[in-house]
Amino acid sequence: MKALVLAGGSGTRLRPFSYSMPKQLIPIANTPVLEYVVRNILDLGVNEIGVIVNSRDNEIQQVLGDGSRFGARLTYIRQEDPLGLAHTVAIARDFLGDDDFVMFLGDNMLPDGISGIADDFAAGRPAAHIVVRKVPDPRAFGVAELGPDREVLRLVEKPQRPRSDLALIGVYFFTAAIHEAIASITPSARGELEITDAIQWLVTRGADVRASEYEGYWKDTGKVADVLECNARILDGLRPCVDGTADNTSVLVGPVIVEEGARIVRSRIEGPAIIGAGTVVEDSHIGPHTSVGRGCAVVNSRLTHSIVLDGASVTGVQGLHSSLVGRSATVGITTQSTDRYRLVIGDHTQVEVAA
Ligand code: DAU
Repeated sequence: MKALVLAGGSGTRLRPFSYSMPKQLIPIANTPVLEYVVRNILDLGVNEIGVIVNSRDNEIQQVLGDGSRFGARLTYIRQEDPLGLAHTVAIARDFLGDDDFVMFLGDNMLPDGISGIADDFAAGRPAAHIVVRKVPDPRAFGVAELGPDREVLRLVEKPQRPRSDLALIGVYFFTAAIHEAIASITPSARGELEITDAIQWLVTRGADVRASEYEGYWKDTGKVADVLECNARILDGLRPCVDGTADNTSVLVGPVIVEEGARIVRSRIEGPAIIGAGTVVEDSHIGPHTSVGRGCAVVNSRLTHSIVLDGASVTGVQGLHSSLVGRSATVGITTQSTDRYRLVIGDHTQVEVAA
């Protein structure tokens, strides 16, 4: 079996971060989402992994390299335009050959693993095996209707009026039967070759298409609120480890990771929380549920339920909550006036200040 990881696409819902980095590299507990994905796949014993990338391939290759660091063999496959999930399979055809494969959306987090689903697929080896999960509002997802034996009866991509509450989540198992299906479908109204339509093509022709209902934790990290929620969830499972230093006036409470070279001075870190390598925290209170990246400075500030990316600085700000601070961004206070804000913010940025 091989794997295909989808790390192209446009990431419009994760602006402004996706302007400057592939959304699949957003860090969750200081580790990029894509790294969790690769590890999920390796856990199945699959190490030949194709990675779909767009023109931002450099940054992804810098993070994942050739995969040898993980024991994986990575093949990068360039998709010039985001023409759809099924399009990625079509352009990966040479890499995939006629092998069975698992397709994993590079922005989906399933930290509890996917080996149960792989076992379900291996047991019956249907033409396609999808993974579903009940969601309160399925309109943002592919939606499946299932029969009594978990056979797939119908699939629709992002329907206005969903006929079930079962959303497709970002893991699919396929035999080579999917290639004929993809060659037979046409682009959807939004101009994409939809994998949902290709699987429906198989269902319509009487192929065996099955589903597993996923019981573990799953999050599509396509939006900021979901990134923060997922970060909190992953931090909950942290094992504390202090490789950096904390002075004797600082207090670390609960599960806290302080990476190498990080310095905690006159501060309180309330776990679960992670402080990245080389970061300096002074006179501050951080956490719970907060990740601070590498090479950051947090001075005289209070941060909860937030993520601060590498190289950023937060100074003099009390009460930063549910916030995502981008790479090398600075958040601070003005000494010029007490009733004005000065903002230099990028396109599609969100700022909320006290009324
Ligand atoms: O998260 C689950 C949902 O993912 C499913 O319920 C939907 O049926 C499925 O279509 C997909 O919907 P999204 O709108 O969330 O897909 P998104 O555009 O975010 O793309 C998913 C991943 O695939 C993401 O890592 C980007 C990558 N991608 C996407 C497209 C359209 C590519 O690599 N190439 C592409 O052309």
